Amino acid sequence: MKLEDIKTIAVIGAGTMGHGIAELAALAGYNVVMRDINEELVQKGYKAIEWSLNKFAEKGTMTPDQAKATLKRVKAVVDIKEAVKDADFVIEAAPEIMKLKKELFTDLDKYAQKHAILASNTSSLSITEISKATKRPGQVVGMHYFNPPVKMALVEVIKGKETDENVMKLTVDLTKKFGKSPIRVEKDTFGFIVNRVLVGPFMFESAWIVSRGQATVEEVDSRMKYYEGFPMGPFELQDLTGIDIGYHLTKEAGLPVPSLIEDVVKKNRLGRKTGAGFYQYKDGQGANFSRDAGKNFDPITIYALMVNEACQLIDDGVSVPSDIDLAVQLGAGFPEGILARADRIGMDKMLSALEGLAKEHKDERYKPSNLLKKMVKEGKTGQAAGEGFYKYGSSASAGAREFKAIKLEVDKQGIAWITLNRPHRLNAINSEMREELPIVFADAAKNDAVRVVVIKGAGDKAFSAGADITEFAGGKPYQFAELGEFFNAPAQFPKPVIAAIDGFALGGGLELALACDFRIASKRSELGQPEIKLGLIPGGGGTQRLVRLIGPSRTKELVMIGDRISAEQAEQWGLINKVVDNNKFDGEVRSFAEKLASGPPIAIRFTKKVVDWGGQAPMEAALFIEREAFGLLFSTEDMIEGTTAFLMKKKPEFKGK
Ligand code: COA
Repeated sequence: MKLEDIKTIAVIGAGTMGHGIAELAALAGYNVVMRDINEELVQKGYKAIEWSLNKFAEKGTMTPDQAKATLKRVKAVVDIKEAVKDADFVIEAAPEIMKLKKELFTDLDKYAQKHAILASNTSSLSITEISKATKRPGQVVGMHYFNPPVKMALVEVIKGKETDENVMKLTVDLTKKFGKSPIRVEKDTFGFIVNRVLVGPFMFESAWIVSRGQATVEEVDSRMKYYEGFPMGPFELQDLTGIDIGYHLTKEAGLPVPSLIEDVVKKNRLGRKTGAGFYQYKDGQGANFSRDAGKNFDPITIYALMVNEACQLIDDGVSVPSDIDLAVQLGAGFPEGILARADRIGMDKMLSALEGLAKEHKDERYKPSNLLKKMVKEGKTGQAAGEGFYKYGSSASAGAREFKAIKLEVDKQGIAWITLNRPHRLNAINSEMREELPIVFADAAKNDAVRVVVIKGAGDKAFSAGADITEFAGGKPYQFAELGEFFNAPAQFPKPVIAAIDGFALGGGLELALACDFRIASKRSELGQPEIKLGLIPGGGGTQRLVRLIGPSRTKELVMIGDRISAEQAEQWGLINKVVDNNKFDGEVRSFAEKLASGPPIAIRFTKKVVDWGGQAPMEAALFIEREAFGLLFSTEDMIEGTTAFLMKKKPEFKGK
């Protein structure tokens, strides 16, 4: 079966995950049949889809007619036979009970067409085991979504022992068609990727640390959230997901449970859902820990376990570093990849932490993985050594270097497309991006094949939502005062740079766009300098470049009030060059860039300098600079080409000579 052959998708289960997946499939244009065990449950799921689509329409993401048409593609049924009889692809999202899943898969196998693929959204059960309930184990695959499916970008696609490679590929393609980022999990391992790194090492190890009296719940949560940049502390997170889930999984796996967790489970303090967990929610303040609490807590144990688990996944052939890093960012909101963070901290520190723990506690889970030991032995200890999981240092030029926060592509027309590539955080500018962007510009400056640069944002929501706020904690004032290299990179780059704004351009995101020569925005875009709402002011040129474009009064309005303005308003104010319809955006950007790329490179470079530097000089000096540049251009081959082509009525071909 090919992707084009998939027309109808059945989703088994209309709960939180089921109706979310059904909505995704309908949004991607498929006919969807959603099934649950009774009319009440399936209607509840259907209503939830209707509510969500209406929200999209209210927000202007789609028209009310599109929302109605999407809902019309969803059919809600109770009879399982009816649910799957026309389906080409079935996604099961029933409760996580193996016996139940096996019974379901036997039925699915019985009633679905021969060619249909049967996927399970399980987060913890074995795909291989589930597939045994069918006569088509090669067509059974894992398709693990994250909650809520419509919002979360990640889907883990899991290969069971018998899963056919073509079925894997098709499931990966279908996931992309749903607008999600698939990560292949090559082996059917417990917890797959994200939960393997998150549950044991992040959540449970934190509980061991507290159980041993090495820190308090508040100290660990404060450290991980405010200093290490995780979206939540491990205890706050367990309160949200339910403490009993990890507890039962660990018990079932026959592993010891930390006394702290035994204790809260015994008291039925299972988290938010019971009104209390590690924190008191009902009649309490909830997860209210101070910023200072974590100041002195050393999180190396938690990191060492997370990294060791990731190494084990690599050792076992389950995944590769770049996929693991993307998975934990998209699936668990990690501030950067866990292996990129390991490179930053140093693999030697990870290894010695584990060796110390292994010696002290004589516990298997502290046993260092082969990969970890090998990397340290080979001196690949991370950023400081020039290589760890990734390569670092100035020797790694833009071509050879692996970028994490940026994507670079130079096309045949001489356009370098730089993508700010952190879609899960709305392309917020983090330390990696700050380090990588100037390298890309330095390389593009030297590369004659590059005639123009376009900066755009990954994903469908933002150019960039500004500096990554999660990195603010723990940063030193001088570090924030040294951000110039990043924000000046497009301005100091000798060739033209276009900011292609499709979505939010806020704070540092707008400042980066301001440092470009041109700003083109789609109609749906919103621009602003919201720093004031954080008690700050712009620090990357947001006051100074803005005032030169739109004058002091409008600058003060944007900066002092901090509200966002529409692209149309920004155009009226002279903040952007033009606004274009959302669906014409990519084409308009490309044709604008192509015009620049086909122009005479030296004259275009001179224009940038003369306008930018001349504008800062007294009039006479500025006019002198202009005349000098004008005169110099008479010595170029491009000038001869331009004038000859005019006289011969043909299109000039400028070579930049
Ligand atoms: N730094 C770090 N993370 C950011 C971020 C930033 N500047 N802007 C957005 N994100 C993260 C959000 O925390 C969220 O992460 P989560 O999914 O783990 O919760 C994710 O990106 C998506 O953003 P979300 O807020 O859920 O989207 P939205 O459509 O509801 O709102 C914005 C979009 C841009 C209005 C909102 O994200 C925002 O106000 N961001 C901060 C902008 C800002 O103040 N920038 C200046 C920084 S100096």
